Amino acid sequence: MASRRNLLKIGAISAVSFVITACTKAVSGSSAPTSEPAVGDPQTPSTPEQTPSQGGEVVIAQVSALVAGEGFNFNANDGTDAILFKTKDEKVYALSRICTHEGCSVDFDLAQNKLICPCHGATYEAPDGNVISGPTQRNLKKIIVKVDGDNVLEVV
Ligand code: FES
Repeated sequence: MASRRNLLKIGAISAVSFVITACTKAVSGSSAPTSEPAVGDPQTPSTPEQTPSQGGEVVIAQVSALVAGEGFNFNANDGTDAILFKTKDEKVYALSRICTHEGCSVDFDLAQNKLICPCHGATYEAPDGNVISGPTQRNLKKIIVKVDGDNVLEVV
């Protein structure tokens, strides 16, 4: 019987030892380093199209990268699918690409110098966005832009 008591004591001591070891590992595990970024980590670089500028203006593109008479598609600050134009006399305009009939995206036609909706054929003047032919009677929304050096900025 004495050996049976000894076995019970050893078993109890082993169980207590196991619990203490498990608790120690749990506590040390909770003090492991977190995944929080260290101070001074580099920021993700932003693209020129998303670079905020001063006074609520956002860089859309560089003038030198635009081809006169062609359109450059971009997302306006409010999320509008938009198109940017540089005319042959170096003036820059931007319009919403969302057709005012039923919302399809209009495309710029360089040969005709118009924006044309592929869904039902509405046409709009470039660069002003005024309706040339329906089915819609509402002009395209203008996006206000300005040129600052080589940057085209959306004024927001
Ligand atoms: Fe553009 Fe109908 S959605 S003409």
